[in-house]
Amino acid sequence: MKFFIDTANLEQIKEAQDMGILDGVTTNPSLMAKEGITGTDNIMKHYVNICNLVDGDVSAEVIATDYDGMVREGEALADLHDQIVVKLPMIKDGVKACKYFSDKGIKTNMTLVFSAGQALLAAKAGATYVSPFIGRLDDISTDGLNLIAEIRMIYDNYGFETEILAASVRHTMHVIDCAKLGADVMTGPLSSITGLLNHPLTNIGLEKFLADYKKGN
Ligand code: G3P
Repeated sequence: MKFFIDTANLEQIKEAQDMGILDGVTTNPSLMAKEGITGTDNIMKHYVNICNLVDGDVSAEVIATDYDGMVREGEALADLHDQIVVKLPMIKDGVKACKYFSDKGIKTNMTLVFSAGQALLAAKAGATYVSPFIGRLDDISTDGLNLIAEIRMIYDNYGFETEILAASVRHTMHVIDCAKLGADVMTGPLSSITGLLNHPLTNIGLEKFLADYKKGN
């Protein structure tokens, strides 16, 4: 299972990278705005900074909602760095743009996916990643994890190679449940990754080992 961090915050990206377990980064316009990164030039520079911090794929989202605009923006994003994955919205022109980029061998991530039908379209268009937003489904009393299970079944039925990137992950149990269901990737905040470290018996056990060592030394 790949671990992506879902943020545009360089310190948090660096912290996850330094742990040695990070496989990539996802961003979106809201996450950029949260870090105060505004204006096309600054946003483009920030993507390059992120790529220089990590080894894996970095999703960079287009703003255009029409096919020509998405192609233009996506090409400019892909030209920034070979780690860039063009992130496209799950609308008709987004699917068409996804097919355009996959035919050219440029990696894509279909975002804002909330149904199995949308995920099927993403796979048909040759998306590298499909991003079902599980937390936002949970927010409206719909089982986000069930969507991961449905997509896994459909992709396995036909051998689709599109990777299921569980997005809008909010906490550690989302990560664990996505792993059980066979999501290929999860993207979440730093806390959803570092939270996996926590177990009181680990802390108690370590304290005891260290105390016993001190007794003999
Ligand atoms: O990965 C998608 C993500 O950025 C959305 O997360 O928490 O805003 O639903 P959230």
